[in-house]
Amino acid sequence: RDGLTVLGLETSCDETAASVVRLAAAGAQVLSSVIHSQIDDHAAYGGVVPEIAARSHVEMIDGVTRRAMSEAGLNWSGLDGVAATAGPGLVGGVMVGLSYGKAAALARGLPLIAVNHLEGHAVSARLGAETTYPFLLLLVSGGHCQLLEVRGIGDMSRLGTTIDDAAGEAFDKIAKALGLGYPGGPALEKLAASGDGSRFELPRALLGRKDCDFSFSGLKTAASRLAQTCETEQDRADLADAVQKAIARQLAERSERAMKDYAEQHEHRLFVVAGGVAANKTIRRTLEDLATKHGFAFLAPPMAYCTDNAAMIALAGAERLEKGLVSDIDVAARPRWPL
Ligand code: KG4
Ligand code: ZN
Repeated sequence: RDGLTVLGLETSCDETAASVVRLAAAGAQVLSSVIHSQIDDHAAYGGVVPEIAARSHVEMIDGVTRRAMSEAGLNWSGLDGVAATAGPGLVGGVMVGLSYGKAAALARGLPLIAVNHLEGHAVSARLGAETTYPFLLLLVSGGHCQLLEVRGIGDMSRLGTTIDDAAGEAFDKIAKALGLGYPGGPALEKLAASGDGSRFELPRALLGRKDCDFSFSGLKTAASRLAQTCETEQDRADLADAVQKAIARQLAERSERAMKDYAEQHEHRLFVVAGGVAANKTIRRTLEDLATKHGFAFLAPPMAYCTDNAAMIALAGAERLEKGLVSDIDVAARPRWPL
């Protein structure tokens, strides 16, 4: 049989997702990717409610997995392993996917691969293009904002991280202050398209600092306060544009510092951006221009694999399986799990 075929399960936040990915010499191929979003269940609360999320995962996981298997045209004997997110995330949800994965692995005699959700995002760009390690990664999601040197699966080191909020969290909270729905990132991007933020002065965090850390809480506070002063739809669009540009600028400033250090140590210069915020077009364009300016090739995952999905978990699982990095059946779900 050519390559490794792995079922991936993702339940760490508000998406119940299952996917089958085949990893062969020619690269990764997504055979199916099914995502049930719980957005409607949480919208009324303005954010994800952990208890509601966990219960919804319990209801959905079996159907979502069956659909992923059938869309891939496989039965269980066509699999080489089962991968499930084991953290970090809302632990009640993580336990659902991980327990389901354990049961499936035990019942079918397949190896179980516990995957770190962040490692899933880290490999997600490989779902769309053949990529060789190592690369410099900016991981920007709702829960994380980190720069990482990725040498291979299970072999990454962190160059910088946020000292307060994640970039996606800033998008979500400022969007809420602007009266936009959840999740805020895509809504804020849409509003910003008709705005011009040049009249707003927003704070620039950690200017002049020599490390690669991020900070978004000052921006969040300032923008939320400004949101209260907006009177017209145009005011709100202008502020949204200013916020999006400020976030893009900080991501670029920190990435530029990391690129300079990285370029001194590596011949192979590839910059990858991944995570939900990588779906933002202004941010993608800003980072692509920056990468080009510094002699880096640029790669971002296909849009469908920026936000949470199980294909990235299946791929990380397949890469781990290839290296023999499988898990014990009693592996625990972890709410916190730094890379
Ligand atoms: O990776 P992800 O789906 O979940 C986590 O692991 O956190 O990221 C979700 C985050 C949310 O904060 C959401 O607002 C943000 O990604 N996001 C965006 C866009 N699409 C999703 N932020 C800005 N622009 C977007 N187009
Ligand atoms: Zn994520």
